[in-house]
Amino acid sequence: MEKWKGRVALVSGASSGIGYAVCENLVKNGMKVVGAARRIDRLQTERLKNGVKLLIVLSHQVYPIPQLHFYTGTKFAVRAISEGLRQELQAINSNIKVTTVSPGLVKTEILRNVPKSNPYKKILEINTCLKPEDIAVTVSQILSAPPYMEISNSRF
Ligand SMILES: NC(=O)c1ccc[n+]([C@@H]2O[C@H](COP(=O)([O-])OP(=O)(O)OC[C@H]3O[C@@H](n4cnc5c(N)ncnc54)[C@H](OP(=O)(O)O)[C@@H]3O)[C@@H](O)[C@H]2O)c1
Repeated sequence: MEKWKGRVALVSGASSGIGYAVCENLVKNGMKVVGAARRIDRLQTERLKNGVKLLIVLSHQVYPIPQLHFYTGTKFAVRAISEGLRQELQAINSNIKVTTVSPGLVKTEILRNVPKSNPYKKILEINTCLKPEDIAVTVSQILSAPPYMEISNSRF
């Protein structure tokens, strides 16, 4: 992460969960971070600063949770748009790289609306799901990749 010291990162969803953990990790690694979210009070508490680098964190599995099915559709769309952007940047030999991260279940506020009767709620209760910090470490690993390496699961 040495090469990013003093550089600027923009993180959406910065007031909780994965975005919050990513911000903490990037600041710890010497980056200046701009956090975006609606709950300004939480952002001000964390004193997040200005930024530039884009990373997309998403899930594109169809979980058997009816309340999440529409949400899942948006994730498929984001994945397709991100991959299109990645291919277009590659076609013009851009230095900008696009990587999508698709975690499994992460224990954050997003899952608070899952009904108790759903099997995934039990997984959360016995605490076997990922932690936001795990995703933050993954993001730092991606950022640490050398300039000639692009992390992607695409065949193109
Ligand atoms: N948790 C999981 O299991 C999991 C798995 C795979 C992928 N993901 C994806 O990871 C991302 C982060 O999720 P999370 O689990 O960390 O959820 P989270 O803890 O609920 O955090 C969501 C963040 O997004 C912000 N946000 C929500 N609606 C917004 C809006 N309309 N405009 C601006 N900011 C908004 C929230 O802040 P404010 O409410 O303050 O605006 C909050 O900072 C999401 O895209 C999610 O789909 C999560």
